[in-house]
This record gives sequence, C-alpha cells and structure tokens, in this order.
Amino acid sequence: MSKNKGNILFQLTGSIACYKACAVISRLAQEGFGVKTVCSKNALNFIGKSTLEGLTHNPVYTDTFEDRTALEHIELTRWMDLAVICPATGNIINKLAAGVADDYISTIFLAFDFSKPYLIAPAMNRNMWAHPATRRSVKTLEEWGVKVLGTGNGRQACGDVGEGRLLEPEAIYKEIMAALAPRPAREAARV
Ligand SMILES: Cc1cc2nc3c(=O)[nH]c(=O)nc-3n(C[C@H](O)[C@H](O)[C@H](O)COP(=O)(O)O)c2cc1C
Repeated sequence: MSKNKGNILFQLTGSIACYKACAVISRLAQEGFGVKTVCSKNALNFIGKSTLEGLTHNPVYTDTFEDRTALEHIELTRWMDLAVICPATGNIINKLAAGVADDYISTIFLAFDFSKPYLIAPAMNRNMWAHPATRRSVKTLEEWGVKVLGTGNGRQACGDVGEGRLLEPEAIYKEIMAALAPRPAREAARV
C-alpha cells in the first residue's frame, strides 16, 4: 500500500449528487489519502454505508451519540488535514452559517478552529442556490475562511436548467489538492 499522503474528512449530505462524490472518494483513496466519511442521516437515502466503507476501508460516522469513543467528533477534527462537504445541501450550508450544531457534520464544524482547509462543494436546485438565505450563508462561511466551491450550470435532476449542479469529480479532486498544497505554493498560485 502507498504511503499516506494526508487525512481527508469527507462529509456527504442529502443530495442526489452523492453518487458523484463516490468518484472523488475513490480517487482520494487510490492516491494514498486516508479518508473517513461522515453522512447526514438524509445522505443515507442516496448512498449506502457499505459503498463508503468499501471505498475507504473505514467506518462511516452518522450519529453523534453512536457507541464509539467518547468525543470522537473532536478526535476527527484533530485527525484530519482537510475537511470537505461534498455534496453540500442548501440545508447544511444555511445551518453551518447559523452556528447550529444538531447533527454530526454541524457539530464537527462548530468545533472546527479554521487552522486547516475546510471546503464546501454545493449541489442544489437553482432556486435554492439563488435564495437570499443561501447567498448570505455562503458569504458568511467565506468570511470565516471556508472555501466554497463554485457550481456547474446545466440540467438539474428536477428538470430545471441553471446554476447549482455539483462540480465534476475531477474538478473537486483538483480543488482538494490545491487546498492541501503548502501555504507558500497556495499563495504563489494566487498571484
Ligand atoms: C430526490 C431528492 C433529491 C434532493 N436533492 C437535493 C440536492 O441536490 N440539494 C439540496 O440542497 N437538497 C436536496 N434535496 C433535499 C434535501 O435532501 C433536504 O433538504 C434534506 O433536509 C437535507 O438534509 P441534510 O442537509 O441534513 O442532508 C433532495 C431531496 C430529494 C427527495
């Protein structure tokens, strides 16, 4: 097995785009990253734990009160080198910006100290993406240091056409690599 290149906390929420996230997780695992996944309860309507366990060789976290090591959500923030929510629903984006911590993903976020990269890859209907609540939440999260990725424009699962599609797996993988690059390289890339 190749040397571990870093630890990624990969979090999925309840969007039809969960299937696309699997391609990113698979690539990260194959490239030698340690990957642990967290699913919102609604994400489990779109993706099975067995798929994620098979791809990462790690258990899937869903319930803050599950019978594992006490305060494991704090341990996870120490273990990871980067956190990403992919796909990120309108619900989780608005929840994080409001400081709500009522499930695993939002509890980890409220315990996050912004010393490591935190990426959000949104996926939602164009009206949800354009909603003033979502616009304001994205701005708030960016002001806190979260990297909110763009979205694709095109045909959506609901039949609408517009902004809000999850970026393609290759683009998300590249964003993760860029965020993990040593800080001087990141700053040079911005010039
Ligand atoms: C078939 C289906 C597809 C959905 N896709 C999305 C989506 O892509 N983005 C989104 O924000 N919500 C989507 N939703 C609605 C969310 O699942 C819902 O808001 C849920 O409460 C999100 O919970 P979570 O953020 O805790 O995972 C979808 C719902 C259904 C039934």
